[in-house]
Parts: sequence; structure tokens; C-alpha cells
Amino acid sequence: MARYLPNAKRGIIFNIEVDGKKIIAHEGETVATVLMAAGIRSFAGHAEPYAPSRLFCGMGTCQQCLVTINDLPNCQACRIFARPGMKVVTSDGR
Ligand code: FES
Repeated sequence: MARYLPNAKRGIIFNIEVDGKKIIAHEGETVATVLMAAGIRSFAGHAEPYAPSRLFCGMGTCQQCLVTINDLPNCQACRIFARPGMKVVTSDGR
């Protein structure tokens, strides 16, 4: 369930593609923010029996938020701003 601050203003709306689906993003949000707001919690995949990585530090330290962006693997979703037309692949999209 998403929660919002009542007086927070979000940037201009645009779409990005996540695992082949169009997702709404707002200017100034990181890819991780967009994924979390859309209810996507799995980021990078791991070999069994380990669960997929999830957002952890949110500041570029832990490497738990790695996704593929525009065919470039191992991008830190928490440090990269979403851009119109961006294509993101998470572990669920592989
Ligand atoms: S969540 Fe830790 S590096 Fe992105």
C-alpha cells in the first residue's frame, strides 16, 4: 500500500517501461522510487535459494537495488533518476 505525504508536490508525469509494462513516473524521482510507488519490490535476482534483492539502503551503498536500464545491467535504481521512455528490467522481467 502506497502512502503519500499530504502536502508533497510531485514533478511532471511521464511513463517508463518496467518489465514490459508502462508505469507512471514523476520528474525528480529515482527509478527505485518509481518501482516502489508502483508496488514493485523485487529488484535483482539471485540463484536459488536466495530471494530477490529489495531496496535496502536507498543511497548507493549496498548494491541491493541493481536493475537493467536501457539494456545496461547492474544499474543502481536508487541513484538513477527516471527519464521519459526509460526501459527497466527487474528480476521479475528476466
Ligand atoms: S538500495 Fe542500496 S545501493 Fe540502492
